[in-house]
Amino acid sequence: MKKNSSIHVCLFPAAGYGTRFLPATKAMPKEMLPILTKPLIQYGVEEAMDAGMNTMAIVTGRGKRAIEDHFDVSYELEHQIKGTTKEKMLADIRHIIDKCTFAYTRQVEMKGLGHAILTGEPLVGNQPFAVILADDLCVNDSEGVLTQMVTLYNKYQCSIVAIEEINSKYTDKYGIIAGEEIENGIYRVNTMVEKPSPADAPSNLAIIGRYILTPDIFEILKNTKPGKSGEIQITDALMEQAKSGNVIAYKFQGKRYDCGSIDGYVQATVELYEKEKK
Ligand code: G1P
Repeated sequence: MKKNSSIHVCLFPAAGYGTRFLPATKAMPKEMLPILTKPLIQYGVEEAMDAGMNTMAIVTGRGKRAIEDHFDVSYELEHQIKGTTKEKMLADIRHIIDKCTFAYTRQVEMKGLGHAILTGEPLVGNQPFAVILADDLCVNDSEGVLTQMVTLYNKYQCSIVAIEEINSKYTDKYGIIAGEEIENGIYRVNTMVEKPSPADAPSNLAIIGRYILTPDIFEILKNTKPGKSGEIQITDALMEQAKSGNVIAYKFQGKRYDCGSIDGYVQATVELYEKEKK
């Protein structure tokens, strides 16, 4: 773990069904879909580790056991490939297992992202924490998105959402923010709406799957009524914090792939392959 890291825990909501990838996700968690040889969730864990976090809190659900097995040793397999050229293919995952603690809890009912995050409260406790939605794969040539956000947290000490500009046609796929630009690409949020139609959207600045949240979010979530789609939305809870000026939105450096969609998933696969070949 990096010295002086202010955030230790990263929460991964990972209970969703991944219906867009059926039948691939019938018996396999969508978080385990690989981009090249690595499952999506491993990219997220590596990003969190790079940002100084060493506790991975994973909110799972039925049918998600493969995630736990992935972040555990497999003696039989390791014994089989010991001394062969394949051994190095497990080096990264062994490093992760050595350095991190994995904690799990199950979300029994699907009641939205806000509910999934609240389900993780016993794993997080009373400290600021990061959230990664593993579907959103973020790649960088320099610092990872969470590393950039931790630096910002150290300055502003409030909740932070990563944002990107999107085509206004697609506002109904994202949480959308508006606010006052206080530094280049950094906004003090004053409005947040979950998946508004283009006509109702306050801007084209969309939240992507990276958050830093202060722990008061849990009490707020307990009192957050179901919103869009009848689900408890993290966007609505964050709006409560934003009312007192406690949410920053950050246009991150890097590229994000929406690996929850087939198009984004294929694009990520092709581009990461091209990069690796170089
Ligand atoms: C969730 C959030 C949304 C956010 C998005 C980022 O939506 O509710 O505010 O913009 O993640 O990926 P989901 O994609 O789970 O429907």
